[in-house]
Amino acid sequence: MDILDIIKSRRNIKKFKSQAVDLDLIYSWLEAAKMAPNHRLTEPWEVYFIGPDTRAKLNHKTNFGNAPVLIAVLSKHGATAVEREENALATACFVQNFNLAAWSEGVGTFWSSIGITAKNREILGVPEDYDLIGVLAIGFPEIVPDPKPRTSIKNKIKNLP
Ligand SMILES: Cc1cc2nc3c(=O)[nH]c(=O)nc-3n(C[C@H](O)[C@H](O)[C@H](O)COP(=O)(O)O)c2cc1C
Repeated sequence: MDILDIIKSRRNIKKFKSQAVDLDLIYSWLEAAKMAPNHRLTEPWEVYFIGPDTRAKLNHKTNFGNAPVLIAVLSKHGATAVEREENALATACFVQNFNLAAWSEGVGTFWSSIGITAKNREILGVPEDYDLIGVLAIGFPEIVPDPKPRTSIKNKIKNLP
């Protein structure tokens, strides 16, 4: 697949096969993801691999579609509110890089906000000076949903004088 096909065909996957995903492959996608743009090279991202006990405590309604691997992606605050926001944006780029790298090899991801509540931050051990950008379930998709409709980008473009 070329990059446009990868971007356009990626879906948020809700149901996974039990088939394991090679950990070295996941590391290779994380290595690629770290090339995300990040202002002042703060490299704000950190990745927690979520083990079975922690996963059970999160008590997700579908157990993350039975994905074999679960990670949390954190973003360290900066010295100012602006830096914190920029770091969170950079980490979102990191996440999407990861999602696309995985998808290019047939592995899907489910981006969940489950980690943002105070209770789940505590379960995940997120330090106070970090934002939790997402919990990502990772695995081979059992079902790849049809694309969800998107508004034409022409409706989102403004030409300034
Ligand atoms: C910051 C962020 C948080 C998200 N949190 C959730 C979530 O908690 N649950 C969920 O089902 N999807 C979540 N998603 C995925 C979106 O729902 C999904 O991308 C959207 O429905 C479009 O589907 P698609 O990615 O397959 O095109 C999240 C996406 C982002 C960017």
